[in-house]
Amino acid sequence: MKLPIWYNEYKHLIENSIDKYLDTYLSLPTSAPLEQFKEVIKYSCRWGKKLRSILALEFYLTLSWRDFSSIKTDDDIMKFCIALEMIHAFSLVHDDMPCMDNDELRRGELTVWKKYSQYEAILVGDMLNTLWFEIISDIKSSYVSQELSKLISHAIWFYGMVWGQVEDMYFENNISQLNEDFLTQLHNKKTWKLIEASILWGIILSGERANIDIFKDFWKKLGLAFQVKDDLLDVEWTQEETWKSVWWEEKWFVYLTGIDKTRTLLHTIISDCRSISRHLGSEKIDFLVDFVERRSK
Ligand code: IPE
Ligand code: IPE
Ligand code: MG
Ligand code: MG
Repeated sequence: MKLPIWYNEYKHLIENSIDKYLDTYLSLPTSAPLEQFKEVIKYSCRWGKKLRSILALEFYLTLSWRDFSSIKTDDDIMKFCIALEMIHAFSLVHDDMPCMDNDELRRGELTVWKKYSQYEAILVGDMLNTLWFEIISDIKSSYVSQELSKLISHAIWFYGMVWGQVEDMYFENNISQLNEDFLTQLHNKKTWKLIEASILWGIILSGERANIDIFKDFWKKLGLAFQVKDDLLDVEWTQEETWKSVWWEEKWFVYLTGIDKTRTLLHTIISDCRSISRHLGSEKIDFLVDFVERRSK
């Protein structure tokens, strides 16, 4: 699916901001062998769709009536986007390791453990999952910074991504215990929670909290749709097309309900998202919803 110019502009700004922050934080002099570790950190954050931060940014811009050209790298919304991408990158680096999914390809390149080493993959994840605290603590309002830290950590630990991964690993070995309800809960934690945090905080940073109730259902559904589509990618597309390793047998919605029912489920959730996002009147959000349904990467 061809990306519009504005998507690439947003992505470019986010990538530049991540690089700028990393350059600032990684400017400490280190001896030559350790210079490689700085490269590993940058490698882990590179490429990818940057979808979570683009969602945050677009909700922020639309609700606050701001223009993209007014956004600066050190605005609070950008600090939030950088933190989101670091958390997401850390989750992928660990997810690909031999002890978890044992994948060798991610974002069209070798996975971190494969290109560098397992110890560097563990440590770079640790590093990224610490660095985001520092970035969020730079937010001007201490109240916002505190509230944001709490929300993000909720999206990561027991209520979110890490616990979703714990369940994911468990059910991989105990698949007979899995049913659709468990799977929906698992996906909600593993994937939806961080997408929820992205949209929720795009709204909060825009200063338009009154919109939260209107969009609650939207982010719930979009997060689930994203993971259902991710499961379908593994069975509908090849490794060359998705830029990552694809595994038929692990894709659980498809495993539990079959391809046709999974496609119908995706279509239904996406239609629900569309009817909610109409309230915003943002063509860009409409595109992002379509993108979640139709993407091949
Ligand atoms: C992949 O996320 C992992 C899931 C949560 C399903 P993305 O598809 O957003 O990965 P990148 O960042 O674009 O590589
Ligand atoms: C990705 O999950 C990792 C997280 C959401 C934390 P999956 O293992 O299901 O996704 P891919 O296929 O590796 O991107
Ligand atoms: Mg996994
Ligand atoms: Mg994986």
